[in-house]
Amino acid sequence: MKKTRKIGITDTVLRDAHQSLMATRMPLADMEPVIPLLDKIGYASLECWGGATFDACIRFLDEDPWERLRAIKRLAPNTPLQMLLRGQNLLGYRHYADDVVEKFIRHSAENGIDIFRIFDALNDVRNLKTALKAVKKTGKEAQLTICYTISDVHTVPYYVSLAQEMQDMGADSLCIKDMAGILTPTKGKELVTALTEVISIPIVVHTHCTSGIAPLTYQAVLEAGANRIDTAISPFSEGTSQPATESMAIVLEELGYDHGLNMDLLEEAADYFRPLKDRYLKEGLLDPKMLTPDPRSLIYQVPGGMLSNMYSQLKQAGAIDKYEEVLKEIPRVRKNLGYPPLVTPLSQMVGTQATMNIVAGSAYKMVPSEIKAYLMGQYGRSPVPIDEDFRTRLIEDEEVITDRPADHLDPEFDSLAKKVSGLAQSDEDVLIYALFPKVGKEFLTQKYRPSEPQTDLIKVSGRF
Ligand code: CO
Repeated sequence: MKKTRKIGITDTVLRDAHQSLMATRMPLADMEPVIPLLDKIGYASLECWGGATFDACIRFLDEDPWERLRAIKRLAPNTPLQMLLRGQNLLGYRHYADDVVEKFIRHSAENGIDIFRIFDALNDVRNLKTALKAVKKTGKEAQLTICYTISDVHTVPYYVSLAQEMQDMGADSLCIKDMAGILTPTKGKELVTALTEVISIPIVVHTHCTSGIAPLTYQAVLEAGANRIDTAISPFSEGTSQPATESMAIVLEELGYDHGLNMDLLEEAADYFRPLKDRYLKEGLLDPKMLTPDPRSLIYQVPGGMLSNMYSQLKQAGAIDKYEEVLKEIPRVRKNLGYPPLVTPLSQMVGTQATMNIVAGSAYKMVPSEIKAYLMGQYGRSPVPIDEDFRTRLIEDEEVITDRPADHLDPEFDSLAKKVSGLAQSDEDVLIYALFPKVGKEFLTQKYRPSEPQTDLIKVSGRF
């Protein structure tokens, strides 16, 4: 009998696939009927929460994200559920105090998360520490993550020492997160080969089809010794999403890997998702533009989710003719900011700054407060030191910090709870408010006091 090597496949259809293709707008109601089937397929895990799901749930879908998580757990009790967590930022856009991070992780674990994929946008491991400790306390899998990017400092030795540090910190597994789909097969193989020499924990590779090379990269990294990959069931695969699960499974089996997926059930699940995708296309939720590979992402290093968000923002603003110009501005902004990887929240910040530079017709005429905070060290260390003249030009004599940003934050859960006392009915509710103060409060008001007059914030959303 042919010798096979066991590998794991994670399906992203409930999270990254629709986040990348259609700005995270798949409601729970469209997932529920198929989840029990997904649970039987044999996935290493189902990625279903985190990233932008929490935000989209309360902002656009009028859904309690905690209820979504509990529902998925109820319907898929056998498959590990996985979430993506932005380290000290959790799922929000600022650094939270350690007590909020601990509370959020404890409740996420209690509500159903089994694998926490934790990253920091700047690969500053100081920003992963509290989250890691909190996950360890729950006994769940802590998957520390390297955000893959390309720059003068992002070399193989740089990544290897980062991975070593993550393993030493106590990571249960290591993920190479290529959010922009720029990890080529050659580079992927080189990187994973180097990692396997020093890392003994499982190595997971996450990439996107944005530039059209992802299946080749998966084959290369598996040959080099990676243990798990992320794919998306075919109707929600390719384009800015992940490679198709079924296609990868067939090819990998031929290559001698044992992925453990039931191909008949996989086909049945794809049958469920196909008409759903057609409906999203018809409703305009899924823009066909997102489905075509764009090799330019190899040049601009722009992640799928960022492309789709920027495109819909410019479309709404009636400035879609500026799309190409904004894309070209991104590498310039990135260089000014010390080559941050383009991942949330840095991807949004860099994207917004690039858009402002182009729309205003003059670079850094308008600077969002988040960019200023970044320049003040409040997000952590930039991979490459920032030019001091540039920094001074933008923030003048504001104080710059160099230690762990969260060390400057006092415990804040109790004061956050006070601000929504009488409205929030659980820690989970407080966390909704903590992560998204304005929209979160509106969401809770609508949930518990639906008769109160609403501002039009939630009303106008629904679907963009
Ligand atoms: Co992704």
